[in-house]
Amino acid sequence: MRLLITGGRGMLGRTLVARWRGLHQCAVADLPETDITRPETLEAAFAAAKPEAVIHCAAMTNVDACEGDRPRAFLLNARGTANVAQACAAHRARLIAISTDYVFAGDRPGARAEGDATDPRTAYGATKLAGEAAACALCPDAVIARIAWLYGPGGPSFLHTMLRLAREDPGRTLTVVDDQVGNPTSTLAVADALAGILARPDLRGVFHLTCEGAVSWFGFAREIFRLRGLGTIDLRPCSTADYPRPAPRPHFSALAKTRLAEAGLPPMPAWQDALAAFLRAAPDL
Ligand SMILES: NC(=O)c1ccc[n+]([C@@H]2O[C@H](COP(=O)([O-])OP(=O)(O)OC[C@H]3O[C@@H](n4cnc5c(N)ncnc54)[C@H](OP(=O)(O)O)[C@@H]3O)[C@@H](O)[C@H]2O)c1
Repeated sequence: MRLLITGGRGMLGRTLVARWRGLHQCAVADLPETDITRPETLEAAFAAAKPEAVIHCAAMTNVDACEGDRPRAFLLNARGTANVAQACAAHRARLIAISTDYVFAGDRPGARAEGDATDPRTAYGATKLAGEAAACALCPDAVIARIAWLYGPGGPSFLHTMLRLAREDPGRTLTVVDDQVGNPTSTLAVADALAGILARPDLRGVFHLTCEGAVSWFGFAREIFRLRGLGTIDLRPCSTADYPRPAPRPHFSALAKTRLAEAGLPPMPAWQDALAAFLRAAPDL
């Protein structure tokens, strides 16, 4: 298929382009030449790529920066997504818009399913949810793919930060939050799930695409260091209250993949398996 990937030079976008080489024809729409807040630049990208489908990854992704500049977060995550959706409608391209667990409040245990009520508590979550609504209003057949706790080749991500800190000082003490739980998710696993959805033009609406199984950031770090044989790191748990941030972080970020199962598509891999595969493929990281 001819695909256009907005934010194609970001962490997820890069994985999609690399993973689908030889499978799909991927054009990239990213800054500086394509700005999703400037429809005329999007129009040029659509005219050049003639996409059959668009994977919309571009966003303002820094959660704390969004909290500090809500108008800009709205411009990129809501208005920008509406611009992409408008272009998809005009060019009859299928839209797959990437969204986030932050659309949920994240304040009660358990995994949230696609149909559960949204209640974002951050500017990032609220503007991404507004983007979801715009995508569905302008492209009724759009797919919204919610992901979370992402890591992938090149980073940046929590995993990259942990390994950098360990490399800098293998004897150090590291304190990591143990009361936020989510699904660590490899961009490679997301790419494979999106490929399955792309092959099914009948699918529309919200899909959760995170790896299976939930763990805290502390537990995730422990597994990263275990798999890398970094037993000299003195890893200690702490609570969210010990590590205040401008934007509140959800305590419960896990997502249930009910739509993927209903559609008969393969389940997402267990987070431990995806992590092990990722680290095996990146021995120098
Ligand atoms: N990372 C996560 O843990 C996570 C979790 C849940 C959901 N998501 C969602 O997944 C998607 C991809 O995330 P990611 O981690 O790959 O993000 P990323 O690495 O920040 O990539 C986003 C890309 O979009 C570009 N971009 C920013 N503003 C743009 C604009 N106005 N026009 C065109 N391109 C623009 C960025 O360019 P610059 O770098 O130059 O700004 C960057 O290349 C996003 O929609 C995000 O909300 C991510």
